[in-house]
Amino acid sequence: MNPIKIKEGVYWVGEIDWNLRNFHGYSTQRGSTYNAYLILDEKITLIDTVRPYLYDKMIQRLSSLVDPSKIHYIISNHVEMDHSGSLPLLMETAKNATIITSPNGQKGLIVHYRKKDWHFKVVKSGESVNLGNKNVKFFLTPMVHWPDNMVSYLEEDNILFANDAFGQHIASFERFDDEYPLGVVLEEAKKYYANIVLPYSSLVQKSLDLVAPLPIDMIAPAHGIIWRSHVKTIVGEYRKWAANQAEAKALVIFDTMWKSTEKIASIIQEAFELLGIPTKMLNLRYNHISDIMSDVLTAKFICVGTPTLNSNMLPTVSGFLTYLKGLSPKNRIGLAFGSYGWGGQGVRHVEEALRECGFNVMESISVQFIPDEIQLQEMLNKLKLEISSLLKMSDEAGSKVGNTV
Ligand code: FEO
Repeated sequence: MNPIKIKEGVYWVGEIDWNLRNFHGYSTQRGSTYNAYLILDEKITLIDTVRPYLYDKMIQRLSSLVDPSKIHYIISNHVEMDHSGSLPLLMETAKNATIITSPNGQKGLIVHYRKKDWHFKVVKSGESVNLGNKNVKFFLTPMVHWPDNMVSYLEEDNILFANDAFGQHIASFERFDDEYPLGVVLEEAKKYYANIVLPYSSLVQKSLDLVAPLPIDMIAPAHGIIWRSHVKTIVGEYRKWAANQAEAKALVIFDTMWKSTEKIASIIQEAFELLGIPTKMLNLRYNHISDIMSDVLTAKFICVGTPTLNSNMLPTVSGFLTYLKGLSPKNRIGLAFGSYGWGGQGVRHVEEALRECGFNVMESISVQFIPDEIQLQEMLNKLKLEISSLLKMSDEAGSKVGNTV
């Protein structure tokens, strides 16, 4: 239960959630952490807390450095309960602490916890608070991830406490990006972005612009590994993801009943492969929707297949499409496909859902019962032509505006 010094007078005092495997529907195979940070200055300051079931561990870690009743400020960068959940417990000990938060943060905390006697200091974007020898500057970053979000910048140490931004769900003993396999950290940061931050990409761009002038030595997020050796890399990735820059990659996402839809999926995959476009086959029975979203983040072509069941698509497919629509990726090309027995409504519903996502939708592929070899060959030839033409158009548009695809 040791605190970990991240800079002189600044400590990680969060907690590791080794067993977390589901974070509001997002599969977290590697667990997670809730990162709280303690600044030892004349005014002792804690940044964020942990989930309530880990409060005792956080307080043990913190108590080895300071008496928790002496905490002067608690900075609440975000109301969501993975970060504010221990406030009611902590405020019983740190009775005189003032909670520093955004205007929406104050509203959210009051509604969540109904504590009328808490003292708040509500900050504006760009406002600084002096802690004694150090100063913390606040930047409101609404919708990264909720309307209340803000980030805190420790000016003397060039540390950005970014809350949900730049986080990853990784439970580990290691705290820093140069202590853990970088590929894994980036993979989890990508998954985190795709499943948590993606709908707010335009606001992410604004937030990145807001903090761009700051010298940043360290990004200390509220989940996972702290960035200190690869700050430029992760900021570059965020810029790319926030711009919805999809690559020439295709995902063939489907479920199948009697393997006919799977046959069509294979032909679609072959068409892309013959054109040299990397593809991925993602059967929804074996792939979690939150893992699929990681691929969606950078793939241009989103092909979704279903048979027809009870005049509709399979529930696995509708679940995925609901999730996809909510996360709102932009600038994608969609394709609905599938086989049917008698009605054929499943593919039509998928096509409608892809249009509702705002995708540019290709002509759907719908086959009664089992596609034969002639139908499959015709499908392959037609798809190759259509995909080539779309790529050509994208190349022309890309050469004008500098898009990846
Ligand atoms: Fe990690 Fe939006 O909370």
